[in-house]
Amino acid sequence: MDLFADSTPEARAAWLRTELERLNHAYYVLDAPLVPDAEYDRLFQELTALETQFPQLKTADSPTQRVGGQALEAFASVRHVVPMLSIRTETDTTEGGALAFDARVKRELGASWAGEIDYAAELKFDGLAMSLRYENGVLVQAATRGDGEVGEDVTHNVRTIREIPLRLSGAHPPVLEVRGEIYMRRDDFDRMNQQQRDLGEKTFVNPRNAAAGSVRQLDPAMAARRPLSFFAYGLGEVKTTAQGWAVPSTHSALLDALAKMGLPVCEHRCVSLGVQGLIDFHQRIAKLRDSLPFDIDGVVYKVNDFDLQQRLGFVTREPRWAVAHKYPAQEQITTVQAIEVQVGRTGKLTPVARLEPVFVGGVTVTNATLHNEDEVQRKDVRVGDQVIVRRAGDVIPEVVSVLLERRTPEVAAQAPWKLAPSLQHACPVCGSEIVREEGEADWRCTGGLFCAAQRKQAILHFAQRRAMDIEGLGEKLVDQLVEEGLVNTLPDLYKLGVLKLAALERMAEKSALNVLEALEKSKSAALPRFIFGLGIRHVGEATAKDLARHFGTLDRVMNASEAQLLEVNDVGPVVAQSIHTFFAQPHNREVVEQLRAAGVTWAEGDGAIGNQPRPLIGKTLVLTGTLPTLSRDEAKDMIEAAGGKVAGSVSKKTDYVVAGAEAGSKLEKAQQLGVTILDEVGLMTLLSNATE
Ligand code: IVH
Repeated sequence: MDLFADSTPEARAAWLRTELERLNHAYYVLDAPLVPDAEYDRLFQELTALETQFPQLKTADSPTQRVGGQALEAFASVRHVVPMLSIRTETDTTEGGALAFDARVKRELGASWAGEIDYAAELKFDGLAMSLRYENGVLVQAATRGDGEVGEDVTHNVRTIREIPLRLSGAHPPVLEVRGEIYMRRDDFDRMNQQQRDLGEKTFVNPRNAAAGSVRQLDPAMAARRPLSFFAYGLGEVKTTAQGWAVPSTHSALLDALAKMGLPVCEHRCVSLGVQGLIDFHQRIAKLRDSLPFDIDGVVYKVNDFDLQQRLGFVTREPRWAVAHKYPAQEQITTVQAIEVQVGRTGKLTPVARLEPVFVGGVTVTNATLHNEDEVQRKDVRVGDQVIVRRAGDVIPEVVSVLLERRTPEVAAQAPWKLAPSLQHACPVCGSEIVREEGEADWRCTGGLFCAAQRKQAILHFAQRRAMDIEGLGEKLVDQLVEEGLVNTLPDLYKLGVLKLAALERMAEKSALNVLEALEKSKSAALPRFIFGLGIRHVGEATAKDLARHFGTLDRVMNASEAQLLEVNDVGPVVAQSIHTFFAQPHNREVVEQLRAAGVTWAEGDGAIGNQPRPLIGKTLVLTGTLPTLSRDEAKDMIEAAGGKVAGSVSKKTDYVVAGAEAGSKLEKAQQLGVTILDEVGLMTLLSNATE
């Protein structure tokens, strides 16, 4: 990958030092990383290994000899009375990581220690470290980590973060420095980047980078517009009084205490006597990682008891009592093999990079979205480029940036990529004209349902789990059904017979029967699923639910005027117009009538929504932990069908908390506030009373 890979050790070490320094500067000072962390780590580890093998190569200015970045001149410096340390990382990403840590802790405690160790485990948030100083309960200073000894005063920006209390509640000591992580939620990040894109401004590479850039904004008004969040995970300087608040004796109790003071503490944490609980935690969080609303790059294990922590002490800048246990990186480098254009359900044309396969965020990725033409041009992505690919959460992988300094002369000689010329203004699927309206970022195919790509997407949308839930009707099958001309419109689905289906490639009679069974089952879907499945522009799941709830029957939705539609919760003029236009089209009404004729009934009166009594109206419920049989989505659907609202956090306004296994701080909060707590059976009872 880099050009000097097989030079002499001296030359290689020198190159690595310069390269790492350059990457460091970009990361810490410019807030604009040039390569993914995994690449930085790889080079760093290579240099460390070289220096271990050839100690004479170690220089005082080697990046291995210092930790962290340097303070920006524009901010005042803050000297940390208690230094902000870093954590050692276990390189083994399997259970070996936890085992190695446990073995080391025991060895370092020596023969005087017998038995298992009490550990605390939590998430390793992917943001930037922050120290919040409270004096007499009032936030007086916020400082970044800087080089660990001296950071930057960013109080003015941190004050704008709503989650951070400006005043602590309850008992607290006269001086308390809270250490934690500033981060940006993924949905906030996506929204912010979309706004930047709409404004034609620079987008951020990832949430961590966006958080770091926002905190170090010189203009607090600008910072205030950036959606930042915070989790507390430790302490800096503390001054207590003889009678007042005392530092708890364990880390887990400390986090509880910080939460009581009003500081955000993440609910995903546990304590464990012995190493097995750490292994379990690592595995459990690995499964949860994609569905968390924010990025993590691993978990952190800490010796829970503060006395033991003190006995263990530090090596250079890293405590012996804590370790980070990582997960596969969510960003990697790979090569663009081609740029193709995909046609979506509404005709939107999306450029997609075909990639040399690369393992990112736990899966092998071969395609990544490039969003739209402007985005390709802004990032200047070209075929043959090395790019950073990111896959975080359940989202589609995306190309975040090009490694311009690695671009070859051949690629540099190419003209920048353009959508329309590369397609001669015709849809790549149906050949219809493509257009880009003024002020719009997207090109669209004008072919409508004439376009096979749009037909396929419409069918997949209808069949998806959150809509009609037709199991087995996936991309491969829909491709064949449309290409063979077996399905042109949604009602055609219900005319399929076993012989035609079984004759398709990779379809045995058994799987054909399964699909028919799933189709049969879908005939009695709930009304909101049906409305959502129709694929009306701007009508997502939530709007579909609101419409079903408000009107009760499909006919009433279909015949509603724009004014009547505007009366629905959360429906504005754009959505109302879109719904009205959709049902004004004779062919759309035709589709609905044909579906009805095929036997689709969408359970209006009974089932989820409609005329049933809905006594959870006005009630707010919070779900936490894992329920024995219901998924989150199912529980939420049932509660909403009964008229209730599902909220994300517990407050005095919460009526019920439904708690399952491994419920965390939400359950505790409910107990503190005296909110009624239900298990799954309790919830079912509540719902069945509701329908009686
Ligand atoms: S504890 C003495 N806990 O990881 C230990 N750090 O290299 C101090 N981080 O820059 C850190 N999540 O910003 C700790 N739950 C967590 C963390 C965490 C993320 C970051 C922290 C620091 C880096 C440590």
